[in-house]
Amino acid sequence: MIITIANHKGGVGKTATAANLSAALSLKGKKVLAVDLDPQAALSIALKLNGSAEDIPDNTYGLLLGRKTTPTNYAKNFDVIPSTLDLAAAEMELSGKIAFERILRERLAPFVKSYDYIIIDSPPSLGVLAANALVAADILVVPVQCEYPALKALDMFTTIVERAKLVNPKLKMRLLMTMFTKRTAEAEGAVEEARKNFETFTPVITRTSMFSRSARKGVPLVMLDGDAEQARAYKDFAKEIMNYEETTSRKSGSNSSCRPRRGDIFPLRRRAPSKKHTPAGRENYNRTEAGRRVPQGVEEKGFVADGALVTVGNRGRIENKIGGGR
Ligand SMILES: Nc1ncnc2c1ncn2[C@@H]1O[C@H](COP(=O)(O)OP(=O)(O)O)[C@@H](O)[C@H]1O
Ligand SMILES: [Mg+2]
Repeated sequence: MIITIANHKGGVGKTATAANLSAALSLKGKKVLAVDLDPQAALSIALKLNGSAEDIPDNTYGLLLGRKTTPTNYAKNFDVIPSTLDLAAAEMELSGKIAFERILRERLAPFVKSYDYIIIDSPPSLGVLAANALVAADILVVPVQCEYPALKALDMFTTIVERAKLVNPKLKMRLLMTMFTKRTAEAEGAVEEARKNFETFTPVITRTSMFSRSARKGVPLVMLDGDAEQARAYKDFAKEIMNYEETTSRKSGSNSSCRPRRGDIFPLRRRAPSKKHTPAGRENYNRTEAGRRVPQGVEEKGFVADGALVTVGNRGRIENKIGGGR
């Protein structure tokens, strides 16, 4: 089960959520791999696993490039693939590759069997790394501050999530309300509004300076002071994640495989040629599920780029572009 923690806004509690969810699940005896996908390495810093690429050769950048990557053990049942600054270069390097947004999902596939949960901490952007995090995920957790502007800012993010669903149709998104300021009408109103309009997790994470203190110490709050109100809220959240997994896997089976499933737009699959409807002399062509005629032996592929669905024919030529900016 792969869980992505994402929101294009910074400072909403993504990293605190990734650290504390990983800690809470590992304390419950679940095997957890936390993947730091932010070039600023806040999660690695919060666990004191940061350093240069020479200090940490097994890092997320290497993982994306296809290097053999051995996770670093942080605590019992809790391993980490830390991030280094060179991950910033991945944005540009990956964007040139066909199916760039599926790379992380493919690279994580060998780890899915060894861990109960893989938790991805995403950068505060809507770039290539964020797209990879959305396509890799079974569950998308979106931490949102309990303020109206934070909810409004979700519009753009949910549009991107809908695009990601073209590639990863089983993606489930739920909000986790964070930084709740007690006894304020705005915070209460924001939670009410969120519950009305989105699927939300039950626990609400209240505001406390203990998160900054725990990050400075290099220990997630759940491990530093498990009885703190916020630590208990994260433990309840972890329980909901575990129940969520049980209900979703019973309903629809695991979504962890990185192999394309029926209904994936990637790759666009060819229909079996129909003898009945094939006019004489046209046997050398097939139709793709998108209805395009392609010569037999040509694998038509598609990907989402720059907000557009792009299809690519043989020799990597871009043949069709629907929507998007340019
Ligand atoms: N519930 C909370 N209450 C108060 N401060 C928090 C809370 N969650 C996180 N923080 C702090 O707020 C800052 C931003 O949180 P962080 O998890 O790094 O957000 P993001 O990863 O979305 O940028 C950090 O200093 C963190 O310690
Ligand atoms: Mg962060």
